[in-house]
Amino acid sequence: MVSVAILGNGVVGSGVCELINKNNNNIKLSKILVRDIDKHKNDKNHSIITDKIEDVFAEDIDIVVELIGGIHPAYEYIKKSLNNKKHVITANKDLISKYGEELLEIAYENNVKLYFEASVGGGIPIIKNIKNYLVSNEIKSIKGILNGTTNFILTKMDKEKTSYNNALKTAQKLGFAESDPSSDIKGYDSARKLSILSTIAYKKKVCWESFKVEGIHDITETDIKKANKLGGVIKLLGISTFEEGKVYASVRPVIVTNNSEFAKINNEYNSIIVEGDSVGKLTFTGKGAGKLATATAVYSDIMDSIQKKENSFLFNYEKAFIKSDSNEQCDWYIKINYKNSHTVLNELTEFFKNIDLEINKRTNQILAVVKSEHEKYINEISDKLLQLEEVTTLRSLMILNN
Ligand code: HSE
Repeated sequence: MVSVAILGNGVVGSGVCELINKNNNNIKLSKILVRDIDKHKNDKNHSIITDKIEDVFAEDIDIVVELIGGIHPAYEYIKKSLNNKKHVITANKDLISKYGEELLEIAYENNVKLYFEASVGGGIPIIKNIKNYLVSNEIKSIKGILNGTTNFILTKMDKEKTSYNNALKTAQKLGFAESDPSSDIKGYDSARKLSILSTIAYKKKVCWESFKVEGIHDITETDIKKANKLGGVIKLLGISTFEEGKVYASVRPVIVTNNSEFAKINNEYNSIIVEGDSVGKLTFTGKGAGKLATATAVYSDIMDSIQKKENSFLFNYEKAFIKSDSNEQCDWYIKINYKNSHTVLNELTEFFKNIDLEINKRTNQILAVVKSEHEKYINEISDKLLQLEEVTTLRSLMILNN
């Protein structure tokens, strides 16, 4: 019998308990750590529930499953567990993207495993596949919808004309969002996940704080309608590429045209396309958030550590060189709120030779579509336009066909 303690009994924690009870795999649930014990009086696992971490460490545990989330106290609990020679399973992307290399090293020194499949892509087996299956390949790029909450919100806004706030409330009720949903909607959750995948794939530490991260909080009905008019939909995409030893990475809302695989990924589903130099492109799609999908990834890690599967590894401490602009040329949608259209239009036609313009004098908005430009040039011109007194706000979105 293998003895497991679960730290955190929220959406995913309760899902893991459910899967342990459903599957008879000689796993004994020994302790469950909760924040507020009064809330769990009627829980059927009541006898093993505690609000004291000391009770967990006092027990003879083989595997600690950390599902509290956030940095503290999860970091301290995981460190202590590893130093006490317990295997640790976690879904904590905040922690792994920040302290992954240190924690993996502590696990290695103590001859125990630290697995974190559930930290990226919910129920999608993406880490195991990059690490194990693609071991013979040099990874060229990773592109993906990496956050269930924002994909759910964008889908509801697009398909059902639900307001942003109502869609977010539903995503929270369904247990997709983080306890502080601003990390979902501002793109940080996707950025942490992209940082974990890229660090594994490119074998250098890719810090999410060093690349561009934009969220969906300022995406409006106008943007969604314009995306539809252009034959596409808006998705929050994490993109990273590895070329000549340098990494380009970003998280941002993108207009994906309807022939793109990403256009079909709706609600809480995630999809990740990984390109290897030998295998080509592989697509991984599935539920990226939610109780039993994420619990499936945690349970799989529990079984791997019981079976002593050798899928543990180390993160490189050496930081990757991060480029801030992509080499690719693509079309761009630029939304400008103006005070005086005349000057802005003159500037736009001066800077961009291939541009379609839509002017809305009622809302003081220009919606421009620029053909085939590099990100560097778009950023330069955006900065110049933003310095004009006649421009109040400017937002640019990539348009991707694949
Ligand atoms: N809040 C996350 C999401 C949960 O919506 O994707 C899964 O990591």
